[in-house]
Amino acid sequence: MKDGSGRTSQGGGGIDRNLGMELVRVTEAAALSAAPHMGRGDGKAGDAAAVGAMRAVLDTVSMKGTIIIGEGEKDDAPMLFNGEAVGTGEDPEMDLAVDPVEGTRLLALGRPNAIAVIAAAPRNSMWKPGSSYYMEKLVVGSEARDRIDITAPVEENLRQVSGALGRPVSQLTVFVLDKPRHKELIRRIRKAGARVALHTDGDVMGAILAAYPGTGIDLLMGIGGTPEGVIAAGAVKALGGGMQGRRAPQLQAERERLAEEMDEAERERVLELEELLRGDDAFFAATAITGSAFMDGVRYDQGLGVTTESLVIRARSGSIRRIQGTHRLNPEHIFADRGLQAVVTAVTG
Ligand code: FBP
Repeated sequence: MKDGSGRTSQGGGGIDRNLGMELVRVTEAAALSAAPHMGRGDGKAGDAAAVGAMRAVLDTVSMKGTIIIGEGEKDDAPMLFNGEAVGTGEDPEMDLAVDPVEGTRLLALGRPNAIAVIAAAPRNSMWKPGSSYYMEKLVVGSEARDRIDITAPVEENLRQVSGALGRPVSQLTVFVLDKPRHKELIRRIRKAGARVALHTDGDVMGAILAAYPGTGIDLLMGIGGTPEGVIAAGAVKALGGGMQGRRAPQLQAERERLAEEMDEAERERVLELEELLRGDDAFFAATAITGSAFMDGVRYDQGLGVTTESLVIRARSGSIRRIQGTHRLNPEHIFADRGLQAVVTAVTG
């Protein structure tokens, strides 16, 4: 639907422009601002820089956005708090799930796979985690998306994915966070004959790798953050993959709050991808902060300036773009249209 200004807006037919192409400037700004903190042992400083840049550039995007997944509750986070309004205030009305630095520890330690990430979908289409901080996740690519069942044994899911991909279980690789809580899961995956790729952090990237064709990762299994689960749902939905989740409280306070708020059946209910993110109008953008085999991180070794690599995915069209950006170090050029000094200072030091 077009409004008087010729801009596209949300209507019965959905959003008819690729908002991801605008959101990628947001993740680029966050990544550029976080990158100077890479390997300095202070993830919080990197996160703070990325939050400021992400907030500033978000407000240049033509939309009426509401942060559904942000940095935390209103009183704890000065920016990008849950419920915060972002964007220019024009249509379309969007729900946003953001993580300016997904993998804060990875950034602090200079390890691969730290990304700046944002998922967007029309207003009221994103699931709100409430008091749930941790959830169990099962993610696969499009071929196996109708074959998974998070309530079934691990071995059965591996068998199903093996059947869908036409490859023996021994040729499957599962991304699992390297946490003590996953000891038994890892043992069972290995016993079933599959391989385990262990990563200390970053299960949004794990979900992307599982849903994206040809990465060498076939599934993501295990328990990670619930907010990260909703962000991952944006990527999986946009990539046409399959995902299920289930609340999996790990903290005593979290268990108690969930027990007060809902009955056991609700606590253990399977969260389907369509519930985590409703409809086909999902947009996903991510920019690598630290590099990996999948994406180049922010690099300063180019004569032209600083380079970034980003991923932009749109669910409705199924388009996947890998975007390489070169950003000049000259403050007059970096995001100069909005005079984003925070970004300029972070990049030029
Ligand atoms: P942060 O960057 O927000 O710290 O998240 C990193 C992460 O590894 C997520 O990818 C994952 O979902 C979550 O933390 C797991 O939490 P925990 O380390 O507490 O098990």
